[in-house]
Order: sequence, then structure tokens, then C-alpha cells
Amino acid sequence: MKLVAIVGSPRQNGNTSILVDAALEEAATCGCEVEKIMLGQYRMEGCRGHDNCRTYEKCKIDDDMPMLLEKFSNADGTIIATPVYYFNMTAQMKTFIDRNYFLYTHGIKLKSKCMGLIVVAGGGADDITIKALRRCFRIQGGNTPENWLEVSGYAGGLGDVKNNPQLIEQARDLGRKMAERMGN
Ligand SMILES: Cc1cc2nc3c(=O)[nH]c(=O)nc-3n(C[C@H](O)[C@H](O)[C@H](O)COP(=O)(O)O)c2cc1C
Repeated sequence: MKLVAIVGSPRQNGNTSILVDAALEEAATCGCEVEKIMLGQYRMEGCRGHDNCRTYEKCKIDDDMPMLLEKFSNADGTIIATPVYYFNMTAQMKTFIDRNYFLYTHGIKLKSKCMGLIVVAGGGADDITIKALRRCFRIQGGNTPENWLEVSGYAGGLGDVKNNPQLIEQARDLGRKMAERMGN
């Protein structure tokens, strides 16, 4: 069973990344194959909005998104993780989500019926961000957010989340439970 984490923070070793690592480490211990995708490391352009995706077998934009969507849509479990930027997800995560429109318009549902959301904020709006992610991926996956696992909390400076062992344990727990639900 493969668990793929999509991370919207541009900081390679940032707080979101640290929480995702904790979740993935735990899932790997439980027998999952895991992969972490830091969106900032890939070529990813914004959706051009011609709204004619269905006409094309492949997205007209020549970047890394088709490859990322293939990994994302075929995973058995998926983690979506983002810091809060201006009261919502980062631009990287939003760009990723908009480009999911290609899957939507082709009727491709996510294989994953097991989703985890991880959100880190400096001090607020994590609730708004979680809500936005729930709405986006409910459309994409056709599965029910009621069954999803969510972890959110506060950390500001680079790596500050390490001073919050409770939050790190919550992320571990998310990884463990996702592995169980995926049948590991
Ligand atoms: C451009 C920018 C906008 C931000 N906006 C918010 C915000 O609206 N609310 C908040 O609580 N924190 C905000 N933050 C703080 C980040 O959410 C916080 O530093 C978080 O830990 C960053 O996660 P990372 O280390 O994974 O990148 C912002 C940070 C940046 C750089």
C-alpha cells in the first residue's frame, strides 16, 4: 500500500515538512511504502482556465503536473499538508489543487479512500484552511471528509514545531491510523 504526501510549504525543513515526516515515518514502520512530494521542487504552472480539458488527453501545460497527478491519483492513501499563508493554503498548494481540474473533467477519481490533512499556522486561520482543503478534496475524491484524519496546530519560526511534541505525536498518530485504514 502506498501513501503519498503532497506538501505545500516552500520550506524544505519547515514545520509542515517535519510533521509530514513524523506521519510518514510511522506509516512506514507500519508497512506502508511512502513518498513525500515537496511541491516547491517541481515545475508547476497555474491553470490557464481554457476550461476545455476534456478535449485533450494530456494537459496542454508542459510541466511536472501530469507526473504528480499520476502519483497522487493512484496512491492508496494521501496526505495533503500546507502552512497557512494569508488565512489559507499556500500558492503552491492552490496551484496543485487547480490543476486537479484535469482529473475532475476527465472523471478520474482518486484511488485513495483514506486522506489525511495537516495544517500549520503561525497563530490562526488553520480552521479556515482545513475547511477549504476538505471542500476541494471532497470534490476530487468523491470520498467523505467525515472519515479523514486531520492534524493542525501552531508554529512560527523554522523548525519551531519541534518544541511541540504533542503536535508531532498527533502527526505520528495520523500516520499510524492511515496505515491501519489502508490495510497495513
Ligand atoms: C507569506 C506568509 C503568510 C503567512 N500568513 C499566515 C496567516 O495568515 N496566519 C498564520 O497563522 N500564519 C501565517 N504565516 C506563518 C506560517 O503559517 C508559519 O510560519 C508556518 O509555521 C510555516 O510553515 P512551514 O515552516 O512549514 O513553511 C505566514 C507566513 C508567511 C511566510
